Amino acid sequence: MQLSTTAAVITGGASGLGEATARHFAESGAQVTILDRDAERGPQVAAEISGYFAQTDVADEASVAAAIAQAKDKMGSITAAVNCAGIAIGAKTVGKDGPHPLDAFQRTIDINLVGTFNVSRLAAAEMAKNDPEPDGARGVIINTASIAAFDGQKGQAAYAASKGGVVGMTLPMARDLASSGIRVMAIAPGIFMTPMLAGLPEEVQQQLAADVPNPARLGDPLEYGRLAGFIVEMGYLNGEVIRIDGALRMR
Ligand SMILES: NC(=O)c1ccc[n+]([C@@H]2O[C@H](COP(=O)([O-])OP(=O)(O)OC[C@H]3O[C@@H](n4cnc5c(N)ncnc54)[C@H](O)[C@@H]3O)[C@@H](O)[C@H]2O)c1
Repeated sequence: MQLSTTAAVITGGASGLGEATARHFAESGAQVTILDRDAERGPQVAAEISGYFAQTDVADEASVAAAIAQAKDKMGSITAAVNCAGIAIGAKTVGKDGPHPLDAFQRTIDINLVGTFNVSRLAAAEMAKNDPEPDGARGVIINTASIAAFDGQKGQAAYAASKGGVVGMTLPMARDLASSGIRVMAIAPGIFMTPMLAGLPEEVQQQLAADVPNPARLGDPLEYGRLAGFIVEMGYLNGEVIRIDGALRMR
């Protein structure tokens, strides 16, 4: 697959890693539809990259079905789905205010894990209808895990569980979709300079950066976007999770 001829749906494309991916894909010639719940930033970014926007809640079945239909209609086909929509919460299993609120745990799983699967399954159903490329390829799905899937920290039970689920479903999805010529990969980012991180005090940012062995800095969202683009084009990558973290292992 070539990025220049890709028609991609990118969830979370209104901000951070998804936005950087949307911009990188569009600059490389790809068609892009942003699926995001942010009805302000989403259309703005889409307009800047001459792409499309569908306001979407990834955890909602009907919302994603409508968004995928809209993306297919605008772009003619869907050949890539990049799942970047996600939320991060911090709460201990038992904290100062008592046990971890169950609804916060469930909401995190619902958006990060169920939402990723929801978009993937509906995008894959569309991809399966594509004419295959000469090597049989019909599409690629890229899910976003986190290094918290492997070394989650205090307060990350919900987030790490959701990202562990993303890691866990990558191989079986790749196996399920193999006969349709659809690959499934996951990226596990370390700490990236997205709006979430940019809001932290300078000294906290510096401390986080200092913990990264090499290079000792936070990740640039474009580095995530470029890895996603590489995965689109590298047809032998399938069923695997790639850490992109400067060798960071969280303690
Ligand atoms: N930034 C990091 O350091 C980092 C590290 C590891 C993993 N990640 C993961 O990468 C992904 C992107 O993170 P980011 O830092 O770019 O975050 P971000 O907050 O900048 O962007 C997330 C986007 O997802 C959208 N979104 C949230 N819930 C949604 C929903 N239910 N439906 C549709 N859209 C929704 C938001 O509107 C936002 O535009 C997340 O899954 C996050 O867990 C980020």
